[in-house]
Amino acid sequence: MAIFAIYSIKGGVGKTATTVNTAYLCAAEGEKTLIIDIDPQGSASFYFRIKAKNKFKKKRLLKGGKTIDENIKGTDYANLDLLPSDMSFRNLDLALNEMKHSKRKLKAIFEPFKHEYQHIFIDCPPNITLVSENIFNAADYILVPLIPTTLSLRTYEKLRAFFKKKKFASDKIFAFFSMVEKRKKLHRDILKERLSDSPELLQAYIPYRAEIERMGLSREPVVFTYPTSDATSAYKKLWHEIKSRCLE
Ligand SMILES: Nc1ncnc2c1ncn2[C@@H]1O[C@H](COP(=O)(O)OP(=O)(O)OP(=O)(O)O)[C@@H](O)[C@H]1O
Ligand SMILES: [Mg+2]
Repeated sequence: MAIFAIYSIKGGVGKTATTVNTAYLCAAEGEKTLIIDIDPQGSASFYFRIKAKNKFKKKRLLKGGKTIDENIKGTDYANLDLLPSDMSFRNLDLALNEMKHSKRKLKAIFEPFKHEYQHIFIDCPPNITLVSENIFNAADYILVPLIPTTLSLRTYEKLRAFFKKKKFASDKIFAFFSMVEKRKKLHRDILKERLSDSPELLQAYIPYRAEIERMGLSREPVVFTYPTSDATSAYKKLWHEIKSRCLE
């Protein structure tokens, strides 16, 4: 049983696409799986055509227990449930700040769901806030998509430095390359250099593919819509490596 957070300080790097597809693959293997959409943008909820009930605001999320249970919804796929996000989550860090054990609150709220689900995937908003610190405590593993560019790598180094400074366990972090465009020399060079000498980087990577971009139209995991595409094989390889590095 594990809680995976799909996280990056940077926006638009493929966090939600990774959450949706790896969680789908996990559920398709027969494991009871929950996606928690903690991002007020609600992209994971959108992909699964799920909206939070009107009354499900941040206060109810922070209440935990039964209140959350009542708001978890089934997706169209076997074994895959989702807790939708709400726009009010944009102020979650302010609400957490006023609470006791403000950095561990989400861990306490999500922990009981470990008994109900085999694996939990948290789709995180970009940025680094008190919500992120809660996620770093709540998650067993932090999966970080990295676009192979200098700026993206720099942000990743900042995350590792933050973990060190705040004494979070940095062996929870597993990064992997995302939106890789092999026709670009910079992408090829960075992959070649980093994949050979950074043991914390996963070898599997996700290429830049139009099918993945089209998920916004189909509102289905690409691994479901295009089961034989190379985008699907890439997500399968990634999920396989995540399992072997984290769960075995
Ligand atoms: N490998 C890929 N190839 C092509 N398009 C991709 C790929 N991964 C993601 N995208 C597209 O890029 C956009 C951003 O991806 P996604 O929403 O997964 O990123 P994110 O990190 O979750 O963004 P945010 O920080 O805003 O939550 C989306 O339109 C998505 O469909
Ligand atoms: Mg997202």
